[in-house]
Amino acid sequence: MLAAEDIKQPGAKIEAARVNILVVDDNHSNVELLEALLSSRGYNILKAYNGEDALSLVETVHPHIILLDVMMPRMDGYEVCRKLKGKDTTRFIPVIMLTALSDIDDKIKGIEAGADDFISKPFQRPELLARVKSLVRVKNLLEELEDARNVIFSLATVLDVNDPYTHGHSRRVSDIAVNLAASLGLSPQEQNNIRDAGFLHDIGKVATDKDVLHKPGALNGKEYEHVKQHPVVGEKICSPLKFAKPLLPMIRSHHERFNGTGYPDGLTGADIPLGARIIGIVDLYDALTSARPYRRGMPQEVALEVMKLEAGKGYWDREILMPFVEIMQQGTQPH
Ligand SMILES: [Fe+2]
Repeated sequence: MLAAEDIKQPGAKIEAARVNILVVDDNHSNVELLEALLSSRGYNILKAYNGEDALSLVETVHPHIILLDVMMPRMDGYEVCRKLKGKDTTRFIPVIMLTALSDIDDKIKGIEAGADDFISKPFQRPELLARVKSLVRVKNLLEELEDARNVIFSLATVLDVNDPYTHGHSRRVSDIAVNLAASLGLSPQEQNNIRDAGFLHDIGKVATDKDVLHKPGALNGKEYEHVKQHPVVGEKICSPLKFAKPLLPMIRSHHERFNGTGYPDGLTGADIPLGARIIGIVDLYDALTSARPYRRGMPQEVALEVMKLEAGKGYWDREILMPFVEIMQQGTQPH
């Protein structure tokens, strides 16, 4: 059945047909009601009658939006929402919580679980359709952002995997830096940013001359100056990308040193962004312990001693270096 607004806009129904909406409710007649309403507007409807089924369905069908009932037996809507928002692959799917509850505390609980919108039952059809339409738009925008993110991460992956000398360096730095950030008690958001910046920190090397980058031996002054451009180039590459905004200071400053002897800005102490201080320590550790064609990688304990000596000379933030040494000595890291 076509709605009046679809007849006015013949393209609308075709557009909507590409949109999958997952309806989750233990009440079958509610599901049928929503299915009838939304499919009449051309949306594809997927159905789940409990939280567990919804979570496993989401893994395979990637819906554009989820309409999620709050009150369900076993796993309620809050818990389903928390699980969806806690996972990288599903956290960008907008969730509208359907609730018979008008209590403000329940709304707060929903917001804390990560819900994007709420609709009170019994719902008003125009309101429901308007909210769905607006969240489809949000989801489309998020997908465009995701595409940009994927492009830059693919580029970093190619660089990381194809470098014959430092193979896998960025992945290792990212993995260790995020563990260090967690042990320092940083928030999950800060940890995610450090994970991403750790992976992208050397992306500016895409513009570094490969003969210089792969030179088997010490660089001359001119070559060293050329390589030193990579943090600034990396910042420039990532700066048009909205998601990368919090990562830029870490990319730019990962070669700064606590005593001001680093580059590109010669920052000192706490003026160096915390994430850059973390990534800088892990970056050097990986460089020391990795083999090069002209030298063997240092054993872990030797590298850690070298870094402690350097900290004594003011190169590293001891507040970060000592917890780093501790977690590396616990042997939970890949090295
Ligand atoms: Fe670097």
